[in-house]
Amino acid sequence: MGKRFTISFLIIIGLLTLTFFVACARQEKGVAIEAKPLKMAEAKPQKEAAPAAKTEEVKTQASTATQVTKEEKVPSGAALYEQPVKPLTPVECARCHYPIFKDLKESKSKHRFECTKCHQQFHVYNPIKKNWEEIMPKCERCHQLPHGKDFPKCLKCHENPHSPLSIPFDVLVQKRKVGKKEVIQCALCHKNEANEMNAHVSKHNEVGCQGCHAEKHGYIPNCLDCHEPHVEGQTYEDCLICHSPHSPTVIKVYPEETDNAVCGSCHTEIYENLKTHHTKHSDLYCATCHTKHGYIPKCQDCHGEPHSADLHKKFPDCLKCHIDPHKLPTLTSR
Ligand code: HEC
Ligand code: HEC
Ligand code: HEC
Ligand code: HEC
Ligand code: HEC
Ligand code: HEC
Ligand code: HEC
Ligand code: HEC
Ligand code: HEC
Ligand code: HEC
Ligand code: HEC
Ligand code: HEC
Repeated sequence: MGKRFTISFLIIIGLLTLTFFVACARQEKGVAIEAKPLKMAEAKPQKEAAPAAKTEEVKTQASTATQVTKEEKVPSGAALYEQPVKPLTPVECARCHYPIFKDLKESKSKHRFECTKCHQQFHVYNPIKKNWEEIMPKCERCHQLPHGKDFPKCLKCHENPHSPLSIPFDVLVQKRKVGKKEVIQCALCHKNEANEMNAHVSKHNEVGCQGCHAEKHGYIPNCLDCHEPHVEGQTYEDCLICHSPHSPTVIKVYPEETDNAVCGSCHTEIYENLKTHHTKHSDLYCATCHTKHGYIPKCQDCHGEPHSADLHKKFPDCLKCHIDPHKLPTLTSR
């Protein structure tokens, strides 16, 4: 009788242990890394909320695991080796590699996903084999050549893969041989701006890209850092209405409501004449007649031929009598 009881007791214990292992094995499956090669879509971080949800998940998994072990007692001896082995999370890697974790965290980079998505292998460096290059993640696995074939060596600029947007400025301003010419690297990525500058050579070509976009990649300068405005109160945004920084001598088409005083800052005499010698032309903007810088309108564009055909035939030039559109002689002034 005693013997039978011991046997059935052992069977029950056996079954319980089996159930425990099966449960553990299931859990392990849930977190196992899939070894298949990673596609861009998989590496893409989900919405900001996603990582938080993941840590939640990890937390609950961890707490159920401890609950199970509490009920079943802490494993010891051979049972230690029957526990599921879970892959390290970035936070766990960070226990030893904190500076790297911190770089990623502070970079705000889109590289803030699992370390092992990049480091498919790690802790396999062997100085005798000199295999560092070989084991380190390759950018090409997830990226193409985003800047074209002129720039294949990613780490030259993206020095730190754990903070890929910290790019040293002095590397960017280095020159490269293109054919026989030495070209600043900026120009190879920003062809539109470089072409614009070459097509309309001005004194800004001497200033150079890095003279304006100084110190930090992407810095946008203010015209007023280097120039006085034409008239008081003109802002940086105003400058861009008429000038492009990369072809400043080409004056763009300005709006009709452009303040006459702006034109008057250079064409002082005309401005003064039009203002002080009041006629109906004085109520117009300079830009109403001069729709583009340098454009000279014809009186007929607006007035047609208001006098007798005979008169116009005899005096085709209106200014023979009207003298100056900015200082029209009027009956009252005569
Ligand atoms: C986007 C891919 C990517 C991610 C994500 C990434 N790494 Fe790296 N890591 C690299 C590359 C590439 C190198 C090689 C850099 C070199 O050779 O200069 C590297 C190098 C390293 C090195 C050795 C060089 C050093 O600076 O000490 C360690 C350690 C390392 N990574 C740990 C981590 C850890 C830990 C994480 C996660 C917290 C992580 N990496 C996330 C791409 C990545
Ligand atoms: C218990 C501490 C510890 C943990 C946890 C740890 N590492 Fe390391 N790791 C080291 C040490 C020590 C080295 C060798 C010295 C060094 O390069 O900092 C190393 C080196 C590396 C290297 C460069 C050399 C090589 O052989 O690959 C990479 C990459 C790396 N670890 C990635 C990781 C990743 C990814 C994780 C998490 C999945 C991780 N490590 C977790 C301690 C740890
Ligand atoms: C495991 C895949 C993977 C590897 C390997 C990888 N990247 Fe990325 N990288 C990504 C993903 C995913 C993004 C986000 C792309 C997006 O949103 O369009 C990204 C974004 C970037 C960005 C954009 C800036 C940012 O961080 O938000 C830069 C720069 C970059 N990677 C450079 C590199 C360089 C340089 C390497 C090699 C050292 C590299 N990457 C290796 C997956 C990877
Ligand atoms: C000569 C320097 C240089 C080299 C070499 C270089 N990059 Fe970049 N990369 C940059 C700069 C500068 C940016 C713009 C960063 C910014 O937006 O502030 C950039 C942006 C990126 C971006 C962000 C996406 C975008 O187009 O806005 C990715 C991804 C990227 N680089 C990947 C790579 C990869 C992969 C390589 C190697 C094949 C590489 N880069 C080589 C300088 C470089
Ligand atoms: C390897 C390619 C690369 C090089 C070299 C490079 N850039 Fe860029 N640059 C980029 C990319 C990519 C962007 C982001 C483009 C975008 O957001 O549309 C960018 C953005 C910019 C912007 C716009 C920032 C904004 O707010 O819109 C400026 C200005 C700029 N770069 C100037 C420069 C100058 C000046 C240099 C040389 C010192 C330079 N870049 C070198 C790739 C490069
Ligand atoms: C005289 C100063 C100056 C010089 C020289 C200059 N830039 Fe700019 N650049 C600017 C200003 C100002 C802006 C902002 C214009 C705007 O907002 O419309 C700008 C804008 C840009 C942009 C962003 C364009 C966009 O649409 O977002 C790029 C890229 C750029 N410059 C590249 C270059 C390159 C490359 C060179 C050299 C070949 C260069 N710049 C030379 C002043 C300059
Ligand atoms: C970093 C300083 C700097 C910035 C920023 C700058 N310029 Fe200049 N610019 C110069 C220098 C230097 C010259 C040549 C000397 C001079 O005429 O004052 C010049 C000349 C010019 C010229 C005459 C060009 C010629 O070839 O005759 C115009 C027009 C001009 N700038 C407009 C602008 C406008 C508009 C902006 C803003 C979009 C701007 N500049 C931003 C430095 C700058
Ligand atoms: C309504 C159009 C207009 C606006 C707005 C404008 N400019 Fe001009 N700017 C011109 C014209 C026209 C010239 C003369 C072009 C020529 O010589 O053919 C000029 C010439 C210049 C010159 C060359 C040197 C000189 O004084 O002759 C500089 C520098 C300049 N502008 C800077 C600026 C700055 C800075 C702003 C913004 C505060 C600005 N401009 C706004 C139309 C404008
Ligand atoms: C920074 C000084 C400056 C400003 C501001 C300026 N101009 Fe001029 N303008 C000039 C110069 C210098 C010339 C002669 C060289 C040339 O043709 O570019 C000129 C030429 C002209 C001409 C042609 C003259 C001819 O004999 O063919 C007209 C018309 C003219 N400007 C109208 C305007 C009007 C309208 C404005 C305001 C919207 C204006 N200008 C603003 C400097 C300026
Ligand atoms: C009613 C239309 C009209 C208005 C308003 C006007 N102009 Fe004119 N402007 C003309 C015509 C027409 C000519 C050609 C006169 C000629 O052939 O001698 C001219 C010629 C010019 C010239 C070149 C000839 C010269 O006399 O030097 C300049 C510069 C000029 N205008 C500037 C201005 C400025 C600045 C303003 C505003 C303060 C202005 N104009 C307002 C019609 C106008
Ligand atoms: C862009 C159109 C435009 C152009 C070009 C133009 N004018 Fe006018 N002009 C006007 C307008 C608008 C009036 C006011 C009409 C009204 O109120 O009845 C006017 C009025 C006049 C008057 C009456 C002035 C007064 O105070 O009573 C004379 C004279 C005149 N223009 C002559 C000329 C001559 C000469 C030219 C060529 C040198 C010329 N205009 C070019 C639009 C223009
Ligand atoms: C032989 C001299 C002469 C010629 C040439 C001439 N005008 Fe006049 N114009 C006058 C006189 C005189 C007046 C009336 C005086 C006044 O109103 O100031 C006048 C008046 C005008 C007026 C004002 C009409 C009003 O109702 O107030 C306009 C507009 C005008 N002329 C346009 C022109 C145009 C356009 C031309 C050329 C196609 C032209 N004129 C050629 C002598 C001339």
